[in-house]
Amino acid sequence: MSLFITFEGGEGSGKSSALRLLDEKLRAEGFQTVLTREPGGTPIAEQIRNVILDRANTAMDARTEALLYAASRRQHLVEKVWPAIKEGKLVLCDRYLDSSLAYQGGARGLGIDEVLNVNLFATEGTYPDLTLLFDIEPELGLERIAKNAQREVNRLDLEKIEFHRGVRATFLSLAKRYPERFVVLDASKSLEEVVEDAYRAIKDRLAK
Ligand code: TYD
Repeated sequence: MSLFITFEGGEGSGKSSALRLLDEKLRAEGFQTVLTREPGGTPIAEQIRNVILDRANTAMDARTEALLYAASRRQHLVEKVWPAIKEGKLVLCDRYLDSSLAYQGGARGLGIDEVLNVNLFATEGTYPDLTLLFDIEPELGLERIAKNAQREVNRLDLEKIEFHRGVRATFLSLAKRYPERFVVLDASKSLEEVVEDAYRAIKDRLAK
């Protein structure tokens, strides 16, 4: 059975670490998984990622940014996600559509429905089967990042706290708007506990 599972959340929510551990767990059980990320995941999409996240690009217009995310998303779907779904795999994707709705639509103020429209064109209406929202207070998330010197700090990490509060609030509103695919996880718990909660949500979805 194929499933398209997306991992969403603010900075420092631990979703990327949880994703790697879940991938190992599911593989050990014999599931065929594809672990990937946005923006990026294929050579063309990674090139677009570099333009978006380059700290030198301070003149980047908000709509340009939203369009680049959508372009990267489409290329990634065409080259990686759609083929994997056809092959019956479990696709575990670090960020997808809801990141654009939360960051560009909500926090950046472009409007959720405006950004959704651009993305419906890009994705031809491909929604995830399951979206795990790693919910955490922005202060706590940013504190975790600062402590973890191994992680690169990108342009968006540096945005002020208000921006991250807007991201969180929009993610939570999306979870209400799409209750059939969203599961909200308390990401302030330990990594082991969050992985366990996420694992259970995936197993529940697989059993449907
Ligand atoms: P990344 O280093 O991958 O961050 P993280 O580990 O938190 O996922 O950088 C991705 C950044 O891009 C992150 O700050 C969120 C942002 N982003 C958007 O603003 N819109 C989007 O559509 C996506 C996919 C990401």
